Amino acid sequence: MIKSNSNFSRLPERYLFLDIAKRVNAFSKANPSADIIRMGIGDVTRPLAPAVIKAMHEAVEDCAAQDTFHGYGPERGYQWLREAIVKGDYEPLGVNLSPDDIFVNDGAKSDTGNIGDILSTDGLVGITDPVYPVYVDTNLMRGAQVRFIPCNAANGYTGDIPTERLDVIYLCYPNNPTGAVITKAKLKEWVDYALSNGSIIMYDSAYEAFIRDPEIPHSIYEIEGAKECAIEFRSFSKTAGFTGIRCGYTVIPQGLMVNDESGRKVSLNALWERRQSCKFNGASYVSQRGALAVYTPEGRKQIHETIDYYLETARIIRDSMTEVGLNPQGGENAPYIWAETPQGIDSWEFFDILLEKAQVVVTPGSGFGPSGQGYFRITSFADRQRTIEAMQRIKNLMNK
Ligand code: MLT
Repeated sequence: MIKSNSNFSRLPERYLFLDIAKRVNAFSKANPSADIIRMGIGDVTRPLAPAVIKAMHEAVEDCAAQDTFHGYGPERGYQWLREAIVKGDYEPLGVNLSPDDIFVNDGAKSDTGNIGDILSTDGLVGITDPVYPVYVDTNLMRGAQVRFIPCNAANGYTGDIPTERLDVIYLCYPNNPTGAVITKAKLKEWVDYALSNGSIIMYDSAYEAFIRDPEIPHSIYEIEGAKECAIEFRSFSKTAGFTGIRCGYTVIPQGLMVNDESGRKVSLNALWERRQSCKFNGASYVSQRGALAVYTPEGRKQIHETIDYYLETARIIRDSMTEVGLNPQGGENAPYIWAETPQGIDSWEFFDILLEKAQVVVTPGSGFGPSGQGYFRITSFADRQRTIEAMQRIKNLMNK
């Protein structure tokens, strides 16, 4: 009989957010009258910006007429969207990219999970810990060797530069789950490390739109030399509420090279085009038109206001966690707040206490990796009034 991929036995039984959903559903079934407030998965709750809605309506209308109908799109995404990305997201940072460095996708999760297809499984993959579980799980699935890079208060949740050689390094700033940000100086240390070791950095900046501090880098390409060692992932999910619409993009600079097995230089941009054109048929025309509207003046303004709303919610969460002595961090240039469990109790135990006694769902820190033990994450992608209610319930519980 055919055997399954044995790498799957290296994975936790369930994907973290599915595990949480199953536990919450079981609780809800057993307690049908419970008024559960969900602050676990970082799913947006605010409606799409009117400019995005208008553009998508128009795109649907295009598809209703013979002469404006759109079938398969270009494999890298429409040129007009890739040009808008380069002009709208990178030119203001002083970063010079070509539209051909950009690959439009159906959200950053797919590409952060699939990118390993174009790399050898030889060598070591370094992953900051705690971490968005997709990077770890997908590397285990493909049989790669993973090394955790512990992130904690002492290193500002940005990891210590390793003394061993890592071939691939995953970084995510503003960080999921800790809400930490990285300074240009620290990011430069990572870029310098990658350049001197011939490593590739996978830089997930899905949450860059939450940065309000002008000193914090939005893109790894703000650091000199990064185009020779880094791939960047961006998403319209958290920037513009596209978690259900699905659109994002990956930047692979055309000059980014690795060696093939015979030591010849190969372009990762070319390999990714080969991979995507074989396995992916592009984000829909409608979602790409919606994404284009993000770059219009009204789109920008509306999106900025929505993010301000989430940041204010984050402030309320942070203040509440401070009030009950759980030492929060993050939530200032990021949507996530990372807090300590009381008396350092186990993350899942505290998850259960909050669910059972306050009917509030958070994400247990240990679900993000070993360094998350004794912590939990709260998302600010929640309704304001429900957040205030959830914070009150946690305060009541902690003050008992
Ligand atoms: C999270 O809660 O960490 C994110 O929403 C998950 C994701 O973006 O896939």
